[in-house]
Amino acid sequence: MSKAKKLFVKTYGCQMNVYDSERMVETMSEQGYEVTDAADNADMILLNTCHIREKAAEKVYSELGRFKQLKDEKPNLKVAVAGCVAQAEGQEIMRRQPLVDMVVGPQSYHRLAELEQQAAQHGRALDIDFPVEDKFTHLTKRVKLKRGPSAFLTVQEGCDKFCAFCVVPYTRGAEVSRSVQQIMDEASSLIDQGVCEITLLGQNVNGYHGVDEKGKAASLAELIWRLNDLKGLERIRFTTSHPNDMTPDLIDAHGSCQKLMPYLHLPVQSGSNRILKRMNRSHTAEQYIEVIEKLRAARPDLLLSGDFIVGFPEESDADFQATLDLITEVNYGQAYSFKYSTRPGTPAAERDQVEEHIKTERLHVLQALLSEQQKRLQASMVSKTVQVLFEKSGRFDGQLVGKSQYLHAVHVEADTSLIGSVCDVRITQSNSHSLNGELLK
Ligand code: 5AD
Ligand code: SF4
Repeated sequence: MSKAKKLFVKTYGCQMNVYDSERMVETMSEQGYEVTDAADNADMILLNTCHIREKAAEKVYSELGRFKQLKDEKPNLKVAVAGCVAQAEGQEIMRRQPLVDMVVGPQSYHRLAELEQQAAQHGRALDIDFPVEDKFTHLTKRVKLKRGPSAFLTVQEGCDKFCAFCVVPYTRGAEVSRSVQQIMDEASSLIDQGVCEITLLGQNVNGYHGVDEKGKAASLAELIWRLNDLKGLERIRFTTSHPNDMTPDLIDAHGSCQKLMPYLHLPVQSGSNRILKRMNRSHTAEQYIEVIEKLRAARPDLLLSGDFIVGFPEESDADFQATLDLITEVNYGQAYSFKYSTRPGTPAAERDQVEEHIKTERLHVLQALLSEQQKRLQASMVSKTVQVLFEKSGRFDGQLVGKSQYLHAVHVEADTSLIGSVCDVRITQSNSHSLNGELLK
């Protein structure tokens, strides 16, 4: 029987939270914790939370409610809330949920172990500071997680763009870029652990401007070119980008950097210039389309993904139609879309709101269009050859799942020994959210 204490982690929201959860697991494993999949067995429960939309935040409270009985049965159980809800509502969480022992924000989670000790001494502990020290230098490098062939690496955090609907500048704070050296070291360590695909993460990843060894600011494109030289690394991706930071060197890299994959998530939010202005996006629909055209000139097969918000305050039928027109013009391979959700403290929260039933109708129409585009693009992949990085076993015996260069999930009959390899696969069928293929010898 293992004597290790058990840590149950549940992660909500974006990929950066997935990355942060991994770091917290590493930190806590130094304190003798190992991960469990069952909350019932846990000595500590950690919820890493998302505050981007109201529903995401509410989920945290309902999840916490479910742990009440468990905590009554096991008074020594520690419950920690991390992430953006922790940052935005730290005191409120403590007040609403007495079972919570620790609250830790996204910029101070390297102190989780200290907080556990504080909570043991004083009952409860809260840390939602934006410390001046760099949390990344405090994170443990000694503990290595078991990993698949694909990993996330945070290169930049926070946002100074202040879109009128968004909480990120408040929960994650101002834009900060990690140094090139730190990133190269982390990438090398991931490669040593068998990783061959790295997705660079940042709320505004293409605003990256970390210092290089000469003390000069490096662009994301420069960082990508540095990573491109790493032996053992086969694929590079990055997310999420802002249209205004799609610089010429980054556009060019899509055409010339061999390891950079032909997939780009480039949110536009709306196709109406009036709404884009009210959103404080500081670009027009035409400027966005121009960036897309340049990207496609550099890399014709680039698969584009986006984010859309319907029912932003004051959005008219004509504004919504402009969004549909933009989608038709761009032709997305896949996309995320949301009803506008009021976030207290953001400028748009104070404005005239669109009625809920209109938001619902618009979302329905928009998603139908996006889904038609996605289906058409997936259908066009049938009988084509793609390169698949096999990541894990599939649902059926003898089947593996991997990702094509375009980030499509692809199911293939293949031996588990191929996990971690990139292989040529001929696509045989398009399903609703994945493709089937056969291995080419
Ligand atoms: N309401 C709805 N969607 C939002 N997003 C951000 N804030 C809100 C909000 N208040 C969406 C944007 C962003 C994505 C991560 O979440 O589309 O790009
Ligand atoms: Fe939020 Fe992205 Fe706008 Fe920054 S650029 S405020 S993260 S939507």
